[in-house]
Amino acid sequence: CQAKEPYRTGYHFQPPKNWINDPNGPLIYKNVYHHFYQYNPHGVAWSPNIVWAHSTSNDLVNWIPHDDALNPSEPFDINGCWSGSATILPGEKPAIFYTGINSENEQVQNLAFPKNLSDPFLREWVKIPQNPLMIPTEANQINADSFRDPSTAWLGSDNRWRLVIGSKQNQTGLAILYMSEDFLHWTRVNHTFHSAKENGMWECPDFFPVSNSSPIGLDTSTNGPDVKHVLKVSLFDTAKEYYTIGTYNLDKDLYNPDKGSEESDLGLRYDYGKFYASKSFFDSAKNRRILWGWSNESSSANDDIKKGWSGLQTIPRTILLDESGKQLVQWPIEELEKLRTKQVRLPRIVIEGGSLHEVLGVTAAQADIEVTFEISDFEKTEVLDPSWTDPQILCSKKDASVYGGLGPFGLLVLASESLQEYTAVFYRIFKSHNNKYVVLMCSDQSRSSLNENNDKTTYGAFVDVDPVHEKLSLRSLIDHSIVESFGGEGKACITARVYPTLAVDGYTSLYTFNYGKEGVKITGSAWSMRTAKINRSRKEENE
Ligand code: FRU
Repeated sequence: CQAKEPYRTGYHFQPPKNWINDPNGPLIYKNVYHHFYQYNPHGVAWSPNIVWAHSTSNDLVNWIPHDDALNPSEPFDINGCWSGSATILPGEKPAIFYTGINSENEQVQNLAFPKNLSDPFLREWVKIPQNPLMIPTEANQINADSFRDPSTAWLGSDNRWRLVIGSKQNQTGLAILYMSEDFLHWTRVNHTFHSAKENGMWECPDFFPVSNSSPIGLDTSTNGPDVKHVLKVSLFDTAKEYYTIGTYNLDKDLYNPDKGSEESDLGLRYDYGKFYASKSFFDSAKNRRILWGWSNESSSANDDIKKGWSGLQTIPRTILLDESGKQLVQWPIEELEKLRTKQVRLPRIVIEGGSLHEVLGVTAAQADIEVTFEISDFEKTEVLDPSWTDPQILCSKKDASVYGGLGPFGLLVLASESLQEYTAVFYRIFKSHNNKYVVLMCSDQSRSSLNENNDKTTYGAFVDVDPVHEKLSLRSLIDHSIVESFGGEGKACITARVYPTLAVDGYTSLYTFNYGKEGVKITGSAWSMRTAKINRSRKEENE
């Protein structure tokens, strides 16, 4: 029999029903993690009068729901409580800045504080009476439709607070900088913090330091010689996010991306699939920076109505600067491994070209698999045509069914019994004209479902791994309607949303495959994943 809700996830964050989008203001307070998110209490589609829903957790895996933290209620937010961020003020005092849609339908920035600091769950939030604190005016030339998503604030050595807000002017994407001495009175800094032409609206800017000397996360106000900075923006026009790594000049309050960090003028992507409006925070309990992202559906609006919900949060990821200093690496938070059970070790074999091996003994619809590929022979590697510069197009043209030289090899996940349905996550290796190997990672959704109403776009990324000298690994988190894949130990990530009709629950299989000419040795493990307790009511928990 088919499950009633084949697409509901087992360990990804989602409320019992309705629409969700951006993660908002993640923070840790008194050892409790807080997750706020854009939520429409009235339906499965986005609506402007959206609220901040709120859940808390001890481990970032299991979550309990609370009442909404922010609801439209005042002239400065009566038409919606849009995205924003939290800042922990000195003396362990959390503050939330968010965008309110005011009674004139303008975007303004508001501040709220917890009502009761002795409540570790921070269940009630008070909007301060001085709101709004930042408004679009003709004088400051900010467009009232393009002024939103305040970032976490940081403190400069001059003891002044700063934060950035997403905006645009004509088609130039802007991060507008504001400054304050007391966190209450904010003035716009005359120059633009950072901007880029032809980007359109920049939503959800995130600006934070990363250490270039040790694998730890940094508090948002940290600066100094061993620190680089990251600016991430979400491009409304394409629903894609880009980040750059650069230098923050505190004297001039300017951010300058490093050369080469702005691939195709835009930057790199945290995730080359469905991942948007992300937000990071510093976890002071474990000295790490954690990234949350929203994974929108790829199903039709009608199918969303049928399933009664829309939108997931991806598994929180720790983010670090890669040793090269040129990109970030991301990895699912270690706490997720507590859900792993019934480990299945893959036999250490060479998977010959043209072969497929089923991984038996895991609940393949809800699993975690981590494998390493060893290549000893590169002879039959295909040559990379210099015009093949777009990894996504390359992955669509050379999808999993196209036999190659070295690859495609990887995983078939959420696969049905006779492979009418599967999602393929795989590598293909090419040799470039300067004799370097180029590693392409693909997530191919083209055969993920017999339901033709889904968006089955294939995604791709180049992974900065030298397959001759370095290990080439792949981890996939499979959870009913989401597949989050981490290539090259987190150097490239791809999240896909899929809705199989046959490969659901107990009818799902997992395979390793190799459709290249060269054999590839594979090692690793797969685990069944337990179901996390996410926003379940007390009643359900007792069942
Ligand atoms: C990003 C976004 C934000 C906005 C929020 C509204 O997905 O459009 O810019 O604040 O969603 O829900």
